[in-house]
Amino acid sequence: MPPLRTKRHNKETPYQFVAGWNEFPFFQSAFFANLRALVVIVMNEATTAIRMEHTPQSRLPQVDFNNLKFGQIFSDHMLVAEFAHGQWEDVSIVPYGNLSLSPATSALHYGQAIFEGLKAYKFADGTVSVFRPDKNHERFNKSARRLEMPEVPEEIFIGGLKALLDLDRNWVPQAIGSSLYVRPFMFATEAALGVHPSDSYKFIIVTGPVGAYYNKPLRLKVETHFTRAAEGGVGFSKNAGNYALSLHPTRLAQEEGFDQLMWTDANEHKYVEEAGTANLMFRVGDTIITPSSSTILHGITRRTIIEIARHWGFQAEERKVSVKELIDGIENGSVTEAFAAGTAATLTPISEIGYEGQIYTLPDPAKREFSNKVLQYLNDLRYGRIADEFGWNVIVD
Ligand SMILES: Cc1ncc(COP(=O)(O)O)c(C=O)c1O
Repeated sequence: MPPLRTKRHNKETPYQFVAGWNEFPFFQSAFFANLRALVVIVMNEATTAIRMEHTPQSRLPQVDFNNLKFGQIFSDHMLVAEFAHGQWEDVSIVPYGNLSLSPATSALHYGQAIFEGLKAYKFADGTVSVFRPDKNHERFNKSARRLEMPEVPEEIFIGGLKALLDLDRNWVPQAIGSSLYVRPFMFATEAALGVHPSDSYKFIIVTGPVGAYYNKPLRLKVETHFTRAAEGGVGFSKNAGNYALSLHPTRLAQEEGFDQLMWTDANEHKYVEEAGTANLMFRVGDTIITPSSSTILHGITRRTIIEIARHWGFQAEERKVSVKELIDGIENGSVTEAFAAGTAATLTPISEIGYEGQIYTLPDPAKREFSNKVLQYLNDLRYGRIADEFGWNVIVD
């Protein structure tokens, strides 16, 4: 693998300590410019090449691939990159293991912590492929900017991920419905109290084989009291706090027999937004409708399904969807399909929706033409059984 070279952030040139240094003719010569460029390249290579430390003993033989619970098993290695002194430095792939942190680590107090979720798949011929990682990289940096954290360059996010997947390729399961879940995350590591952006961060990627996240159709409760996100807030970003705040309302809904919440807008609780860990999609006639606002996480699965739907000649609308429109559509039969779309959830049918004490039942998931066809298509594409006409599979070679 070629060494990584990362972009430097807000870096002052190291020569600035003597005022007026660059006015001497020598410092303006082409020779000096070339020499300086060479020094920068050498320094970059020295500081950001991936250091590799292999595990002395793989844990792979202990894994029961027929009984994979989501998020419980982790592959042999992880990628760790450190941001300090205004730049990414020290990128390494090391055995998966615990971290040692100061109790003052600022992410633990002020929540500067973001993450992503994507999946790698194994084709029948053993090829390992990761699905649309560029989109996760883009969204990760969007989250980073909103939380005043440094962006992670492509060489580390995508290049580092490919190196990690290459090393742990035997951990990618092959059975349909299973995959290697990839969790890139970043958190503030400054060991100091006080609310301000941290001066140091860790970016880590861990992976682990997973089966299905949901194994049955979902019963969702329309949430009309608690709020996930408001305009101007951080709903569009994938930060840890968005999930912490969902736990209490979700538990209350689960005590009522629901699987998850269907969040609504913060102002009026009149428009549906998204489910706990997935986006919402509905079919009305030949139109696929999905809620859109700055408060939802713009899912890559949702985007993928919209692109496929349009390619197949369906209309796709990204717009506000009121609870009333949804409930009326279920009652009059015009909403024929409803599903949750997400990396972990893949595409999970919604069977029932609870709203103000009433249960609204959707048509039999087995008979849903679009959902079943698109799920089959996505599986065929991700497991390399059909041509990748959109160019979404990134092969790890
Ligand atoms: C809150 C939320 N919305 C939507 C999604 C779906 O996004 P994606 O399809 O990119 O996984 C997720 C899962 O990642 C999520 O956590």
